[in-house]
Amino acid sequence: MTDSPTPGTHQLPRRSLEPGGRGILLDGKAIGAELQREAAVAAAAFQTRYGRPPGLAAVLVGDDPASQVYVASKTRSCLEAGLAASTWRLPASASQDELLGLIDQLNADETVDGLLVQIPLPAGLSASAAQERVSPAKDVDGLHPTNVGQLWSGQDTLASATPSGILELLDRYGVELDGKRAVVVGRSNIVGKPMAALLLQRNCTVTLCHSRTRDLPAVCREADVLVAAIGRAGLLGPDHVREGAVVIDVGTNRITDPAEVERLFPGDEAKHRAFAARGSVLAGDVDTARVRPRATAITPVPGGVGPLTVAMVIQNTVKAAERRLVAGAR
Ligand code: GUN
Repeated sequence: MTDSPTPGTHQLPRRSLEPGGRGILLDGKAIGAELQREAAVAAAAFQTRYGRPPGLAAVLVGDDPASQVYVASKTRSCLEAGLAASTWRLPASASQDELLGLIDQLNADETVDGLLVQIPLPAGLSASAAQERVSPAKDVDGLHPTNVGQLWSGQDTLASATPSGILELLDRYGVELDGKRAVVVGRSNIVGKPMAALLLQRNCTVTLCHSRTRDLPAVCREADVLVAAIGRAGLLGPDHVREGAVVIDVGTNRITDPAEVERLFPGDEAKHRAFAARGSVLAGDVDTARVRPRATAITPVPGGVGPLTVAMVIQNTVKAAERRLVAGAR
């Protein structure tokens, strides 16, 4: 891999993967920081032109600890990039009408350009009804049916942050996509499906796998680019990976079983120390220790996809602000 040149210069590709190289860790933290800096420049230009910064509103219902961490990270990063950001909390006991009422209020707020409802929602609340209520022009998660339709029609739209960030990572490492075989494991609305659509737009031949896929290892071994977004720690091992593939691990699974820690992190003293101190550690969907030597490159967990997601929420908020005010989108 070549080093990145001076920060602030943005000529692609600034990094490249050596042909025949193996086990390169793709630095999502560095690319996320780059994306965040670019968003900050665009946000400052927007502020100069319109007299206010682009603004994100995040709706958080209930007290799911992981959701609280994710929302705090998104709003903090927005503020760091010079955007406005607010979190709107409802109790887990909130009704669907209360949730939809809050979304209506934020849709009507002219200072809110990007609006997201963190999922999962507490039992009894419909995520799809909430996502359909968000104005398509403010839908920075790309989950409104209008935006989903535009994405699959190949139009420029607001697309889900995680898969958009993954494309930025691949592009910035100079990973060629045109004509390649891409396999996406996991069919969620927020990652798997939009990832498949974006890879298709980039002329990959895409296979979208799920829990009923027969002979998953054989299908995955066809991949030049393999994206794991299943939510099962270490599910994809060396049997799933073609020699020389590029592997993207979207999983963030908190593991608490010492046997799992031993299986997934053999000889990794830092992980074992963290586990002893906290009683849990994060693991991706890929068995990185065994897959990394086969792969040309792989994203680590943490420090891979996570920072890209946060950066793309900021980028999408700036994009939504520009589209609303410049193009008049509602
Ligand atoms: N829950 C897990 N990931 C996401 C995300 O990207 N957006 C929202 N709204 N909720 C999530």
